[in-house]
Parts: sequence; structure tokens; C-alpha cells
Amino acid sequence: MLDSASRAGAPAGHGTGAGPESITTGQIMGSHLSTTVAEGLAFMQIVDGRKVDSLSGERIDVACPSDGKVFASIPASGSADVDTAVKAAHTAFSEGPWSRMPAFERGRLLTRLFNLIGEHGDELAALESRDTGKPVRQGKADVAATMRYYEFYGGAADKMHGDTIPFLNGYTALTLREPHGVVAGIIPWNYPLQILARVAGAALAMGNTLVVKPAEDASLSTIRIAELALEAGFPAGVFNVITGYGAEAGAALSAHPLVDYVTFTGSPLTGTRIQQAAAVNNRGVTMELGGKSPQIVFADADLDAALPVLVNAIIQNGGQTCSAGSRVLIEKPVYEAVATALEERFSKLVAGPHDADLDLGPMINRKQMERVTGYVAAAEEAGIPVLARGSVHADAPAGGYYAPPVLFGSVDPQAAIAQEEVFGPVLSLFAFDGEEEAIRLANSTEYGLVAGVWTRDGARQHRVAKRVRAGQVFVNGYGAGGGIELPFGGFKKSGHGREKGFEALFDMSATKTIVFNHG
Ligand code: NAI
Ligand code: MG
Repeated sequence: MLDSASRAGAPAGHGTGAGPESITTGQIMGSHLSTTVAEGLAFMQIVDGRKVDSLSGERIDVACPSDGKVFASIPASGSADVDTAVKAAHTAFSEGPWSRMPAFERGRLLTRLFNLIGEHGDELAALESRDTGKPVRQGKADVAATMRYYEFYGGAADKMHGDTIPFLNGYTALTLREPHGVVAGIIPWNYPLQILARVAGAALAMGNTLVVKPAEDASLSTIRIAELALEAGFPAGVFNVITGYGAEAGAALSAHPLVDYVTFTGSPLTGTRIQQAAAVNNRGVTMELGGKSPQIVFADADLDAALPVLVNAIIQNGGQTCSAGSRVLIEKPVYEAVATALEERFSKLVAGPHDADLDLGPMINRKQMERVTGYVAAAEEAGIPVLARGSVHADAPAGGYYAPPVLFGSVDPQAAIAQEEVFGPVLSLFAFDGEEEAIRLANSTEYGLVAGVWTRDGARQHRVAKRVRAGQVFVNGYGAGGGIELPFGGFKKSGHGREKGFEALFDMSATKTIVFNHG
């Protein structure tokens, strides 16, 4: 899902334009931020073109995962707030200037937002890093990828068109691509800027209006983007943001009868709940529900090229990436060589605060840290060998949510760490014997999001890429979803629907067929 894939050897090619060169923690305390109050930074949500608090006045503390200290707050909204926002979005869709705007003008607004994000690149990158704990270089990479989304969909808005269809004599049949109406976007905390961009870019390009519910752990950049969207000139009610807890604001949003389509990225369990809520209203959904993505290393692979990519694909964003490469399947003749090289790299990895810009940052919150360390402890208890363990920097604040990277070898394919999404810096190695076993192992989880295949054999590249059940397969590379242009989404428990690229424009619209009888 994320796009800072260039270091992972992916065909990404973006990352230019944001250009924030020097980010310090100090900068994000200053006047960049929207609202400052004495005890911290009180962010407001965006409803119908205005910055507003929750109707109840209740707020949620925002802590930095690097030290666990509160530095801001966001509104804690509930169903009444959601109702106001959805009604505003519904009115903007059916009656406002947005409903009469030609596609190219929607594209121009997205392009204006792209430019404004560029102007605020430093601020957004620093804010995202502080809110999520991700290293500052990852915050910068996220801003660069975010810009590419708005640039891509700004250009795509007037390129989507329908068909004329050969039909009976005396008839002309044609199709139009029409927006759904109000799109609800429920966003996770791992790549808030990027995931918001892939939702908002495609939804707005097609003429929908939006109500976004960012994660309670990472709402700040979403609020800032919605503020910039107002500055860019999006009409009131087109881009609404409601902050709050999932079980309150999120549940109310996915169940609202005036929501026409729901798009979600997050855990399979929450995905099921959201689909059940949307089903009551018989509305469509896009679900991106994570993975247990394999990288398959054949004995003839270019190991020097593969090794840094294997490490980065699980370490990037602390492994809190839906498309993390969390399983490495290694052909037996090179198993020892690959395992030894990975051991060496893993033992040198260091976690630390976002502004220290080390190999990885903290986990998003205490619960996620405990989830990761819990999986590691259970695997150790089950006798799965730890090949290497990274460290937490000695100066890392004691209140931060750190989980050191762990490399497990000779993992039983049925073990929990082989089957379940850990969502942390935990890599499992498996040995295989030949192509058939590689494919069987690759497909042996309930997930099917991304896969990597490393081999110099061209025919094998094609065979394996076709037989692995994954929405994206990278050959001699790994993109972690990389590339704004590339359709992305899963098979099986990883979800359904496709985001990114031109494909997303189909998910964010519906076909209308019109038939003329002219005799
Ligand atoms: P989650 O799936 O519960 O949260 C994601 C979003 O859903 C947040 O905005 C949250 O407020 C919202 N939400 C939660 N409950 C809701 C409900 N009943 N109705 C509507 N919205 C609701 O994920 P959580 O609990 O933060 O993380 C747990 C695990 O989920 C992680 O360890 C990871 O395995 C997975 N996850 C996967 C992500 C991905 O990119 N595929 C992203 C985040 C989490
Ligand atoms: Mg946060």
C-alpha cells in the first residue's frame, strides 16, 4: 500500500517534488499547525467547509509513539456528528456547485491540492512522523507518494469515459460512469496520508463527495489535508473529516443510510463489521484487509539484489504495512546462505524515535507493541528458532512503544507467525524444495495481497507469477504496493475491490446504461 518503495527496488519512480530537506521536531511545534491552545494543539474536524469541534465537546488525547507523551488532541465524535457530516456531503453531492462541475474542473482542484501539499511538505511530513512514530525519512517519502496520488487523479478526472454498445437495429446504447454519491472512507493509522490520498484522489476525481474517518491514533495529517482542500477551493461539504473512535464514529459512518459507498483499509475483523453495517443499507464496499505476503527466493536468484529488499519489505514502517513481506520462502540449496546474510543484517537493525531516523520507529501504540511482542514470545515458546534480534536504541525514551526486529528460521508453515498478520518487524523464513512446493507454501495462508518472486529463469518468472494468488506480484523486486499507477487489492481474506491506478476510478463509480430507440 505504501509507496516509499524506491529503496526496496520497486518500480516506483515517484518521490520527487516534496523536497522537505530538514525536518526537526521543533518545527512541528510552531505556527504550522492549525490551532494552538495553551495545553497543546487542539485540532478541529472539518464539516461542511468549517472547522468544528465534536458536538459533545469531548476530545481524544494524541500521543507521540516515540515517547508516549500527549502533544495534541482531536474531537471525539459520535453518531450525531457523523449525521451532520453525511448530510452535508449528501447535500453537496445532490445540490451544490460540485454536482454541476465539469470533470476537468474537479481535476484542477485536485491539482491545486497537489501543489498545496508540496508547499506544506515539510510540515506534513513532520506531523505524520510525530503522530505515527515513523522515521522522518518515511514521513517525507509518504508526502512524496501522497502528492503523486493527487497529481495522478487530478490528471485522470476527465479521462474516464463510457462506451457505445452495438445493440438492436434502430437503437443506440451507451454507458456513463457515474459517481456513487457520498463515499465514506475509513482510514487506518499506518499510512494515513497515503491511504487518504488513494481514497480521496479517486473518489473526488469521479465526482463523489467524502466523509473520512481517520484512525483515532493518527488523524492529524487527514485534518490538515482537508484544511488544504478548503484552501484549494473544494466547495463546502465535499471533503468532510470526522474524528473519533472506530466503535463510535466509524460504526455510525459505515451504517449511515445516506452513505452510498464505503471504502476501508484495516483489519479483517473490522472489515467484516463495516461490511455488515453497509449491508443493512445494501451499499457497495471496497475492502483492503492486509496480508501475509511471501517473497520466494529461488536458488538461481541474484541474492545481492534480493537481500536489501527482503529486509526493507518487513522493516519499513516497523512492519506495520499491509503489504509487508513477512514470509521469505527460500529454495533449499541457498537457504543457509540467505538465512546467514539476513541474520547479519537483522542483528544490526536499531529501533528508535522518529526524529532519530533509525532503521525503524516505535509501534503505533501500546496495544500494537504488545501484539508484536506477544507473537514473538509465543513463537519462541513454541520452539521456533530466533536467528537474530535487532535492538532498541539506548537513548530511546522509556515511554515509547518499541518492539525490536526479530528473525525466525525454519518456521512451521502452520505456526501463528506463519499464518497471521503480526503487523510488526517480525520475519519468518521457510525452506522449500522446487517450484511446486514454493507455490503451495506461498498460497498456504488465508491472505493474498502481494508477492515477490526472485529468479533469473524467465519462464519460471511467468509461471510462478501467474500461480501465486496475490493482487500484485513483483518479479525481482518488491514494491510493498508501490506505484500510484498500479492497481492494488487482495484475493481471499485480503479483501476485494481495487484501489490505485485507473482501476480505482471504476470502484469509485457505477455504470449507467442509456438506450435510445430512434426507430
Ligand atoms: P482496525 O481495523 O480496527 O482500525 C482501522 C480503522 O477502522 C480505524 O480508523 C478505526 O477507528 C476504524 N474502526 C475500528 N472499529 C470500527 C468499527 N466497528 N466500525 C467502523 N470503523 C471502525 O485496526 P486496529 O485495531 O487499529 O489494528 C489491529 C490490527 O489490524 C493490526 O495489528 C493489523 O494487523 C491490522 N491493520 C491492518 C492495516 C492494513 O493496512 N491492512 C492497517 C491497520 C491495522
Ligand atoms: Mg498518533
